[in-house]
Amino acid sequence: MANITDIKSQSLQEVNQTQTVAELEEFRLKYFGKKGLVTSMLKGMGSLSPEERQVQGPAINALKTELLEAVESKKNELELSELNEKLKTEKIDITLPGRPEEPGKIHPISQTIDELVTLFGDMGFALAEGPNIEDDYHNFTALNIAEDHPARQEQDTFYMKEKKDGAPLVLRTHTSPVQIRTMMDKNPPHRIVSIGRVFRADYDITHTPMFHQIEGLLIDKNINMGHLKGCLIEFLETFFGVKDLPVRFRPSYFPFTEPSAEVDIGYSREDGDFKIGKGADWMEILGCGMVHPNVLRNCNLDPEEYQGFAFGMGVERIAMLKYGIPDLRTFYESDLRWLRHYGFRSLDIPCALNKTSGDV
Ligand code: DAH
Repeated sequence: MANITDIKSQSLQEVNQTQTVAELEEFRLKYFGKKGLVTSMLKGMGSLSPEERQVQGPAINALKTELLEAVESKKNELELSELNEKLKTEKIDITLPGRPEEPGKIHPISQTIDELVTLFGDMGFALAEGPNIEDDYHNFTALNIAEDHPARQEQDTFYMKEKKDGAPLVLRTHTSPVQIRTMMDKNPPHRIVSIGRVFRADYDITHTPMFHQIEGLLIDKNINMGHLKGCLIEFLETFFGVKDLPVRFRPSYFPFTEPSAEVDIGYSREDGDFKIGKGADWMEILGCGMVHPNVLRNCNLDPEEYQGFAFGMGVERIAMLKYGIPDLRTFYESDLRWLRHYGFRSLDIPCALNKTSGDV
């Protein structure tokens, strides 16, 4: 075996002579690579006699430690000087223009929901929430919907696995159950809107199995149909941004209201141009009514003491009308081109809401 002292002085000299990190790596491999000199010396110790090993072992280990330390400190030195060299010669061209980033767009449903929350918020309505998976009691029974009402039929309602106690569970078919939860939760007066997903087994140009509704509820003493009409006319004029919008209350039927009405707004279609607020045609826009005494009683309220009104409408429907979106199904096709066209910039303030709150 070569003289360790010679190897040491030879190799330390080699380390010092390396001028780049790459050269240093070459050196490291020469001594410590798989077939490197030090590596094979270490491997060779197995074949030495115990006496030889006692002498050579510590010397080889000391060589290994010293060489590795030398490599490490040389590495630091070379890296630092390479970095300094780079800093001296390389410049970042800060005049190069950045890559443009296309800002995202707000989906028309999110935009419409924001507008509705703002608008009803200005009118004093708080936001209430309820679960998407409802029990049959809140979705139907407490709302005075009879056992044999067609809305309960399986073709309209998505039924879920029933609860442990056997109570049927459904994907809520409307946001009206939030009325029940609100009245059962707290004492009146109530003034809430609730916006969220609802589900029905339906699919064509005007129906998707999931869509959004907004529900409103106002309960207090001495509330009458005049309050209902005033509130909804104000809402419709502000939302569509049309002063003196023609609004018509048409008698109708809902199990949870008495009397009930459907509300239409005036519009015209001229040469394919759709104008809200002008012309002789009527379009149905929402359902409403005075909360049925049975519903109040189901929520432990005395109809002689408390009355109120409720209303419900489809968010997609009013968004389509306001923003001229022709096909409901496109809302959920996740087509970026569609979103770029119909979406909103994040700071868009809807013009219909530019009234000061004193006007509302
Ligand atoms: N829940 C009704 C529906 O899904 C909408 C509705 C009508 C809600 C009249 C109401 C109301 O609160 O009073 O079609």
